[in-house]
Formats: sequence, C-alpha cells, structure tokens
Amino acid sequence: LLTIDTATAGPTVSPDLGGIFFEDINHSGEGGLYAELVNNRSFMAAATPLHWSATGSGAISIDKSTPLNTALTQSLKLTVTAPGDGISNEGFWGIPVRPRTTYRASLWAKGTYRGRLTVALTGKDGTVYATGTTKSVTGDWTQYELKLRTTASAPTTADATLTVTTSSSASDTVWFSNVSLFPPTYNNRPNGLRVDLVEKLAALDPKFLRFPGGNYLEGNVIADRFDWKKTIGAVEERPGHQNSAWGYWSTDGLGLLEYLELTEDLGCAPLLCVFAGYALHGAYVTGDALKPFVQDALDEIEYLTGSTATTWGARRAADGHPKPFPLTYVEIGNEDWFDTSGSYEERYAAFHDAIKAAHPHLKLIATTPVSSRPYDLIDEHYYQSPSAFQHGAHKYDNRDRTTPKVFVGEWASQGGRPTPDLNSALGDASWLTGLIRNSDQVLMESYAPLFSHVSNNVWATNLIAYDALTSYNSPSYYAQQILRTHQGTVVAPTTARALPGLNTVTTRDPRSGRLYAAVVNFGSVARTTSVEITGARKIKPAGRATVLAGTALTDTNTLTDPEKLTPHTRRVTGLAAAFTYTFPPFSVTVLEVDAP
Ligand code: AHR
Repeated sequence: LLTIDTATAGPTVSPDLGGIFFEDINHSGEGGLYAELVNNRSFMAAATPLHWSATGSGAISIDKSTPLNTALTQSLKLTVTAPGDGISNEGFWGIPVRPRTTYRASLWAKGTYRGRLTVALTGKDGTVYATGTTKSVTGDWTQYELKLRTTASAPTTADATLTVTTSSSASDTVWFSNVSLFPPTYNNRPNGLRVDLVEKLAALDPKFLRFPGGNYLEGNVIADRFDWKKTIGAVEERPGHQNSAWGYWSTDGLGLLEYLELTEDLGCAPLLCVFAGYALHGAYVTGDALKPFVQDALDEIEYLTGSTATTWGARRAADGHPKPFPLTYVEIGNEDWFDTSGSYEERYAAFHDAIKAAHPHLKLIATTPVSSRPYDLIDEHYYQSPSAFQHGAHKYDNRDRTTPKVFVGEWASQGGRPTPDLNSALGDASWLTGLIRNSDQVLMESYAPLFSHVSNNVWATNLIAYDALTSYNSPSYYAQQILRTHQGTVVAPTTARALPGLNTVTTRDPRSGRLYAAVVNFGSVARTTSVEITGARKIKPAGRATVLAGTALTDTNTLTDPEKLTPHTRRVTGLAAAFTYTFPPFSVTVLEVDAP
C-alpha cells in the first residue's frame, strides 16, 4: 500500500537541488564538450608532435627555438622538400565532418616559404570534403583564419583529417602554432562547445554547474592544478597544462570564462570550486605559502562577480563579458579527506576568513568536516553499487537536522561501462528519491562523472558518452531527467507498506495541486499496488505516467543503440482517492495526479 498525504506539507524541495558536475575526465573537455577538433593544436602536449604527422616527403618536429609567444613556447617545424608537403592532424579519435557544414579554421604560421597554405578536411582515401587557402606566409608569425565549407556530397563521418599543405618546390621551412578547427558550436559561440552535448545538459534542467573538478581542480601535483589565470584571454595566450589526474594535455581552451558562459547558456548558477592548496599526490601548502592561493581565489571571485571598476572585473570585461556573473556557492578544495596531514583545518580557515571578509554573503562548501570555522554545506561523495543505493535511499531520513546541510556533489551507482546500465539507473533513481525527500537537508546534488569519450573511458561509469560524431544518454540520465523535470515544490509525505524493492517520493505543486509520485521498482515482476491519496478535496480521474523500463538489469544504451531505453509518457485513467496501479518490472515511474 502506497499512501500519499496531501494535507501535511513536508519539506520544501530545495530550489537548488539538481545540478551538474563537470570536470575534464575521460576527454570530457578536450575532445568532448569543448568543440575544438584539432588534437594538440598548440603543440605543447609533448616533446614530440603528438597527433600530428607529416604529409608528402616533409619532416616535422617540435621546435622550442621559435615560440609564438611566452605562453606557447613550442611550435611545429615543417621541413619542406617537395610541393604538397604539409601536416595532418588526426583529431580526437577522428575529425567529424557533415555535408554542407561550415568549419572555422585558424592557424599561426611563419617561415622561409612565401606561398599560400591549403587547409583541407580530407577523407582517409584522400577525398577532399572542404578546402581553402591562406594568404602567403611571411617571415613573421601571422594568424590566418578561414572558413571551410563541406560539399553537399561530403559524407557524415568521423574519419576525416585536417591537412595543411604547401606548394613549395624549394627546400623551405614553415613553423606552425595554434592550428585550430571548430565546427558550429552551441549558440554559435567562438571558442565554444559541442552542440549535441550542451543540448543534453540543457535537457537535464540543471540548477547549477559545479566546476572545474574534482581531481582536475587539484592535479596530481600543485603545478598541474586548474590555474584559472592561465585559462582566460586569447586562446593562443593560454599555455595549457598537463591534466595529470586523468592523463592527457589540456589546452585550457575550455577555461574559466567558457565554463561561466556555459552556465549562462544553461540558465544555471555557477558553483565555483577553488584550488585550496592540496594536490592529489599529497602535496599541501600552509602558512605564508598559502597566501598566494587564497589571493588567487579572491581574484577569481572578483573575476566572476566584480564590477568593471575592479581589476579582475575589468579583465572579465576585456575578455568580452562586462556583466558580472551571479555567485552564491564557493567550494574550498576537493575531497580533502584524502589529506591525511590534517592541513585542511588551517587551509579551510584561511580561505573562509578571506572570502567571508570580502564577500560575507557567499556560502562556503567544505569538502570534509572542520571545527574551527563554520561552513554552509558539506560536500559528500558516494560511489556505490546499485543495490547499496537502493538500500541507502533512506540514508538521510533520520539525519540530525541540526548538523550542517549537505551537498552531495558526486554520486553514482557503479555498474555499466562507459555508461550506467538499467541496474545502475534503478539504483540512481532510488538514491535520488531519498535526496529529494530530504532536500531540506540535502540542498544540492550532482551525479558524477558527466561524460566519457567512448575511446577514453578511464572512469568506468559516466552519465553520457560519445565519439567524435554522435552521443547518447544512459538509462540513468533518463531516470534523473524524469525525476527532475516532473517535480513539485513540496514533499508530500508518502509511506510504502509491504512493498519491498520499491523506493518512492512524492512531491506536490501547491498552486495547481498536482502530485508527482515517483516510484522505483527494482523487482523483476510487475507490482500491482494499492495507492491511497489522503487529504485532497478532489482528484481528477485522468493523469499521466512517465515511465522508464526495461526487461533486464543489464539493458543499456550504446552509441549504436542509443534509444534502447528511453522514457515514455502515457495517459492514465481511473485515478481516485484509492486506486490500484501496476508498476512495470525494472522501472522508474512518475505518476502525475491532479489533486487540487
Ligand atoms: O568523479 C571522478 C572523481 O571522483 C573526481 O574527480 C573526484 O572528486 C572523485 O574522487
């Protein structure tokens, strides 16, 4: 028996509850959300020309003696011996092309060569899908920009390469720096993001974006942290850094302003994680040595929120965004429970005191409990089995309501690769019922990780996966989406009696009287259940059910079968103060009942 009490108002659903957490893991940023198609565009990734090859009879090498500027201290040297010699980039497991599409190419070059460069998108068999030419190369570093439009007969493929070729008949040298290629981006932003992936994020209706990590924020060593000041301004002035936590180079083209513009595009709030003097392999900073890091955080907050009369607010305006961003939550570090030295107590206090002095209204998130200073939220992370989440759905029901509120900043059932299977989706949905029910305590939550490139699945289970061309949503994505987008503003107390394997939460919109009863059935059999709605003046007999269901716990979505499991909405009738409803096996259902 499921009893929904509409007369007693439960907790108000936290308006900030459902967010997203992004960090560059599994090529989530480089080769993922960040739409740049050239891999190692800056030639800074290694001492060898990773992801580049010479075409024709030329030779290529990394040259440190001819830098573009003080940020890009390595360039690619091409020694030309015959017409048609050039360079080619393989992209991130291929460069995607589509017919009748315009790509923006940009490159810096200089050399002894005085001819034009031909820039082309080319198939493996040599078919040219799009081509353009630059002006003649000179002896000085010059940027060449051109638009490449694919032909109507170009295929939709991820197998293209970007080639840049010369026509020199002499022995010449050409140096290249920051060779870039962008497809159309979300909202047509230059230096922007991949359309299909942002659309998938938008459809989750996130309330906030936690960024930039995670381990990516910290780096294995302090030098590899997300050093935000090196991630702003012209892309060719960003040195990039080794993403040591996840094993590849980051150009930092996806920098602080790009994250903030993403929050604007998604209509959500930034949740800014600041580096707090601790790196993953254990290095930590305290005392006077911590002061520059605290100042970096203050400057970063000023970059987001300061007026254009402030130093960093002016810099934000110079970078193209005069309007300040709204900011409420700042997280100090990441998973500082790993810091066995105990230095977080001191580090948190230093950041707390400086930030609260300058911005008393900001709310601070601690990553592990501290005692000398208050914190507004504590960030808890849970990576567990689907069954642990199923049984853990009541974790917060009996929480001491006087302790600090919670941000469940990373959570996910572990099962399925590179994305969760139905079993994990049911675990995730169960867990989420508990977070929603207790969202007077759990003010915010975000699943993790968000993305994986199918060819770089370093972290096993991720919400959304893609290759160079296409992407798909996991069953867990859909489970979360239906719980988030079919939700009232107040919890309606709901009891489930003699219903093992069912997890549930009901929310209600007090203005319309609509109830949203979310029920997760982990069982392999359909559950015909008596439902009682108490305290409602009237109940409309017709409502809706949105259901995600499968036939086996191993069911999942893939690149080749992206919609095996998707939610479906149908009309239901016979709703009343007491009715029976059958929840399908292995399912997540949100029943919408109008009970004004
Ligand atoms: O989400 C993957 C990683 O898990 C995050 O980078 C880190 O915070 C956690 O340990």
